Amino acid sequence: MNLTIPQRKEIRGNLQVPGDKSISHRALLIGAIADGTTEISSCSQAADPLSTLSCIKQLGIQVAERGSSILLHGKGRRGLQEPSTPLDAGNSGTTMRLLSGILVGQDFHSVLLGDSSLCQRPMKRIMDPLRQMGANIHGTERNTAPLFIEPVERLQSIQYTLPIPSAQVKSALLFAGLYADTPTIITELSKTRDHTERMLGLRSETINGCNVIELNPQIIIEGKKFFVPGDMSAAAFFLSAGMLVPGSNLIIQNVGLNPSRRRILDIFKIMGGNIQIENERSVEGEPIGDLVVKYSELRSNLDLHGAEVVDLIDEIPILAVTALFAEGTFRIRDARELRAKETDRISAIVNNLRLLGCEVEEYEDGFAFEGRKEYSGALLPSYGDHRIAMSFGIAGLKIQNITIENTECADISFPGFWQKLIYSQKS
Ligand code: S3P
Repeated sequence: MNLTIPQRKEIRGNLQVPGDKSISHRALLIGAIADGTTEISSCSQAADPLSTLSCIKQLGIQVAERGSSILLHGKGRRGLQEPSTPLDAGNSGTTMRLLSGILVGQDFHSVLLGDSSLCQRPMKRIMDPLRQMGANIHGTERNTAPLFIEPVERLQSIQYTLPIPSAQVKSALLFAGLYADTPTIITELSKTRDHTERMLGLRSETINGCNVIELNPQIIIEGKKFFVPGDMSAAAFFLSAGMLVPGSNLIIQNVGLNPSRRRILDIFKIMGGNIQIENERSVEGEPIGDLVVKYSELRSNLDLHGAEVVDLIDEIPILAVTALFAEGTFRIRDARELRAKETDRISAIVNNLRLLGCEVEEYEDGFAFEGRKEYSGALLPSYGDHRIAMSFGIAGLKIQNITIENTECADISFPGFWQKLIYSQKS
């Protein structure tokens, strides 16, 4: 569906965003291989985590769902059942990569499918180290999905330094490490989101500037309660909307403030964003708080590169759109990973900015432009990418006659986004 974004006068009131997508995937997967019952509250009901949910059901896990509360009857790490049909990860790279780590340790064979976007994304990054562990996993000639996994006699542990910063690769290896007989050690040159480590209760330490995580395969995984905080990556769209629309005053409740996810708050504040954290607290091990955002005069002059980009990787599309309306220049380098997301996000952002009349320089690993110019409305492709669609939807609050194509892709991470953007919190 195409949607022309109506202008808003001000955005005020209280808002909840979906449960954190990364934590929801992990809670479902860990619950499936735990012994006993896991209770997940505020689990995201977006399409991506639902792909993980349907895969674990196919693997024999009984699930009772009451809205966003989910009760899982875990079968222990060796209790999953052989699926009778291929497992479908849909659009979800997290489902495919993390689940592969678990499937390589099973005594049955499995096939993992994805949609046309996921089937183009790189899987060599997980297959290479999983094979080093002795796994029998292969994909197409281009090292993409479908993935075919055959059982092996035993998996060896691995000591592995991630060649690219990726929480998905790290987590796949940690899950696979549960099926080895000696400890697995993963080294990250740049620390990525640490939800898997936190949720499995793993130790990590900084050695020579690197983040080193150790997983002992003997750890006990018992069913427990997981509370999923609101997704910072989803909140970022409304933080941007609140800062950009004059007169706005919005409270986004219960947002996850995990240190590996909150860098976007610092960047928005550096840009002059009027954002306060209230009611900061810890719920079942995750720091959360309410974010109060008000209309702000933004300036940019941002030059983002290096490790900093890792913490912002999912927020770069909305950050770029926000910087469009800030005084100064915006430049990002070392973000090549964006080309391997749901779509080539560098090319998608650059194309759409140009369609709005912004002069943008594109690099192999980033892009640069100057903000606060005259822009004109346009028909903007979403490239089937949820974060591109929602980010340019926010641009539509400031620029007349922006129409976003294929808006339903927002459901991948944020069902109800357009209704919230257009109809709720009306002045
Ligand atoms: C995720 C890790 C990141 C992120 C993705 C979710 C996760 O991907 O972009 O949206 O939950 O582990 P990479 O690990 O590919 O960087």
